[in-house]
Amino acid sequence: MHKLPELPYAYDALGKYLSKNIMELHHAQHHRLYVEKLNAALADHPELLAMPVADLVRSYQSVPEAVKPAVRNLAGGHYNHSLFWQWMSPDGGGEPSGPLMDGLVARYGSFQAFVDAYTEKSLGVFGSGWSWLMPDLSIETSPNQDTPVAEGRPEPILGLDVWEHAYYVDFTYKRADYVKAWWNVANWQHAQERYESDTM
Ligand SMILES: [Fe+2]
Repeated sequence: MHKLPELPYAYDALGKYLSKNIMELHHAQHHRLYVEKLNAALADHPELLAMPVADLVRSYQSVPEAVKPAVRNLAGGHYNHSLFWQWMSPDGGGEPSGPLMDGLVARYGSFQAFVDAYTEKSLGVFGSGWSWLMPDLSIETSPNQDTPVAEGRPEPILGLDVWEHAYYVDFTYKRADYVKAWWNVANWQHAQERYESDTM
């Protein structure tokens, strides 16, 4: 069975920027429901229930047709959120350092120019979806719970949930305020480790 992972910090740990209320709803309700519905949808497919979720998402093209929507939306949602909790930290914010910082400056001109470009892409997602920083330092977006990984492509090194459920409780319709707040909790330490393990 697929399992809801623990948050790597307390629900109120990001409180200055993202409230305990929204973190609890997002993790204990939204993410939990993806996991529960996924397990229900895969009840007749024990081999898919036993797979790590990253492998399941990576196998999207080859799973039986009948469970493709569940794998795309529910496994995608479980996988994306499992990553998302790690991409935030109470010790986050600021700037990356080392090769990741060098790479972003080389590609975007400055760290601020990268932040501006990533923010613009995130605000440009129509409806629900995600924005991604890829290991080649390009910025991509996906609708709904899609992920580049389901297309056989690399796992992003950082990502931002721009579904309304991620911010409506704290910021109402103001996605721009949410994205601005989110930069203060972005876990650059984790993104650096992913970048360095992917590229070096
Ligand atoms: Fe979400």
